[in-house]
This record gives sequence, C-alpha cells and structure tokens, in this order.
Amino acid sequence: MGNQAYAKPRGTVDLLGDEAKRYLQLTQVFSVLAEEYGARLILTPTFEETPLFIRGVGDSSDIVRKQTFDLVNKGSSKDYTLRPEFTAGVVRSFIENKIYASPDTPQRFYYYGSVFRYERPGAGRLREFRQFGVEFFDKRLDFNSQAEAIILAYRGARRVLNRELRVTLNYLGGNLARASYRKALTDYFKNFIENMCEDCKERFRLNPLRILDCKVEKDQQVVKGAPRIEDYLSHEDKEEFASILKVLKDLKIPFVISGRMVRGLDYYTGTVFEIEDASHPELGALGGGGKYSSLVSALGGPEIEGIGFSYGLDRLLEASKESFKAEEKNPSFFVLPMGKEKGCQEKASLVAELLREKGYAAVMPSLDKSVGGAFKMADRIKAKKVLLVNSDLTLEEKDMEKREQRKVTLEDLLK
Ligand code: HAM
Repeated sequence: MGNQAYAKPRGTVDLLGDEAKRYLQLTQVFSVLAEEYGARLILTPTFEETPLFIRGVGDSSDIVRKQTFDLVNKGSSKDYTLRPEFTAGVVRSFIENKIYASPDTPQRFYYYGSVFRYERPGAGRLREFRQFGVEFFDKRLDFNSQAEAIILAYRGARRVLNRELRVTLNYLGGNLARASYRKALTDYFKNFIENMCEDCKERFRLNPLRILDCKVEKDQQVVKGAPRIEDYLSHEDKEEFASILKVLKDLKIPFVISGRMVRGLDYYTGTVFEIEDASHPELGALGGGGKYSSLVSALGGPEIEGIGFSYGLDRLLEASKESFKAEEKNPSFFVLPMGKEKGCQEKASLVAELLREKGYAAVMPSLDKSVGGAFKMADRIKAKKVLLVNSDLTLEEKDMEKREQRKVTLEDLLK
C-alpha cells in the first residue's frame, strides 16, 4: 500500500452495503411502477455537448449559470458537460433517434443514474446525486397524461415512504401567458429591485419569474405584493389546470397550490409540481417536475409537448431508512474445507462452483482462516448451511438454524 490517503470528492457519497442495495431496489420499485404506466427504459450518456444544457436547461437557471461540471476540452472541437439533469439528454435522444415518429402515442420513458451539480454541499445537497425520472411525450399532452405524471410521482414516493406527502402544484401558463406575466413582474419589481438581494438583481435581468422563489426575508415582503400568475392565464390554460386538478381530487391525492413555486429550470410551461416528505421538510423536495411545451422544438425537434419529473434518490434513501429496508438474501451455503491439504481445498472450490451453477449462493472463507473463525463468519453473514468438506473428501452439512449436522453426498445436494 502506498502512503497516500485518498478521500472522496466533496459532495459525493460511497453507497455501501445495505445503502447500495436499497438504492438498487429503489430503482427496481420505481421501474416496475413506471412500466405500469407504459413507460420504457431509456439510458442516455452521462455527458453531452455543453450547448445542449445551455439551450435545454436554460441560461438563466442557476444550474447552467453556476453549477455545471464542464469537462476539460482536450483539443476536441466540442465542449462537454456532465449532465446536471436527464430531461435535456432524453429530449436530445428522442429527436436524434426520431422516436417521435412512432405512431404509438403518448410515448413514455423512465431513467435513472447519476447527475452532477456543482453546488454547496449540505443537508440533502450533493454534487453527484442520483435521480430516477420519467418523461411523457405527445403532440398535445392531454390532461390525463399530465395528471398521470403527477400521480405516478406521488404513488412512487408513497410506495417507499408510506406516510403523508406534500404535493405542491403551480401553473406557469403557456408561452403567451408567461410573456405577459413576465412583463407584469418586470414592471412591478423595477420599483423595488434597487433594495433587493444581489441574486434577485440578477434574476430581474435574466428571468424575473425566479424572484418569486427568493428565500431572503426582506425580499419576500416585496414578493408578497407581486402580480399573480392566475390573473394572466388564458381560458385554455385555466381549463387545462382545472381538469388536471379534478383527476387528482377524484383520486384523493392531496395537494396544495402555490403561485410562488416556479422551479429552477427554464423550460417549464404549464403545470409544475414538487413532492416533499411532510415529516422531513429539511431534505427539500424529494422530487419535482412539470410540463414543457417548447423544449423539443427548441432543441431542433418537431412541435411535441413533454411532461416529466425526477426524484432525488439520495433524499429518498435518507427519508425511507425506516420504511424501505433492503431485502436480505442470505447465502444458502458456506463451503468450508476442513483440511489444509490442497486436494481438500480444491474439492471445496469445485463443490461451491457446482452449487452456484445450480443457482445457489455459495460463499467460501479465506483459506487461512481457522475453523472457529470460519464458523463465526458463517454466523455473521447468516449462511443457511455450512457445508464441511472433510480431509477424506466426504461432505457434511450443518443446518445453522436447527444446529443439526448430517452426512451428505454431492449428488444429494445437486438434486
Ligand atoms: P430538479 O428539481 O432540479 O428537477 O431535481 C429533481 C430532484 O433531484 C429534486 O427534487 C431533488 O430531490 C433532487 N436534487 C436536486 N439537486 C440535488 C442535490 N444537489 N443533491 C441531492 N439531490 C438533489 C430536474 O432535475 C428536472 N429534470 C425534473 C424534470 C423531469 N422536469 C421535467 N422532467
């Protein structure tokens, strides 16, 4: 071993043992759920060309302005960035592979994996974290499809948390409504902006909608008096939102509406939503998403609408420590050579391999372990049976629960 000690980078985690397993099982539970809604798995690259995110996520978002991990350009003509979210990459793939041409609509996808944001690490905030998400596409996403995206998000979190969740919704309006609302906000905030925080000054310039999200107390006073989005929505906007809410009400999915929730990505139009764990508000949102009507066309595809959401799996893992346990699968056999002779050890390793071929999990201790030490290990790893390989190459099986030992033959075991 060298003398250099390495530590993981700030804002990253090692998922070990049960935590790693819970991560995998979480993705499995959500995959099954997403498939119940007709979604198919899509796996896209971990890095993409930088302009995709600038155009996709939006250059007024904090994510693109401050939080991307940009890769050092080694003389290539393109710049690359680690994905700070999945949606832009999924839409790129949807266009590039002409998936939109399929007649089987709506088209639905789910995905999971790491995403990267250069944020200040803190509670529930990492620099590499994991997401699971879905994206639904259709020429015109009907209210049902939109409601289903929210219901799916809610049901998934309920499946692993099994307790009260807070679903917050807002409706940002189509492009027209957004333009006039943006103008109204600019007109309103221009009288106050001088005395607001530096972030707000920047948001005022780039996207005044994001000022509504400001957490600074004195600014919140100003935000309280700001024009409200509902006064700028068209008749169609209002009808669409009302239809979605009706589906949620009929299914008794609890929600609140907040005109202040604007989300941190630039592509949203229409319904946006976030889900929080009512008993762990300090973790922030467990997941969020919304509708985007113009992202596909903005990235060079046809006029197709999308709606989607992503969970933060690290936050869900933290919140579900009690309610979602890793499924334990103990090894069936602990194969223990009792003699130090090479022949005995070879026989043990052969037997273990034959058992594995039959689909049993078979574990062997390091060959230098004492018999006593090996039995302790078999107990710790909760092996169901210890298979003793004697020096004369006969086999005995010890049932660790019943504490019974009997002679067996290899033929019996493999039967
Ligand atoms: P987002 O709200 O930026 O949305 O991220 C989704 C979730 O990822 C958050 O609700 C949170 O649980 C988790 N998350 C975000 N930042 C961090 C962090 N630094 N550390 C740990 N977890 C974090 C999106 O990413 C959109 N792409 C969602 C979407 C899909 N909208 C439409 N389709």
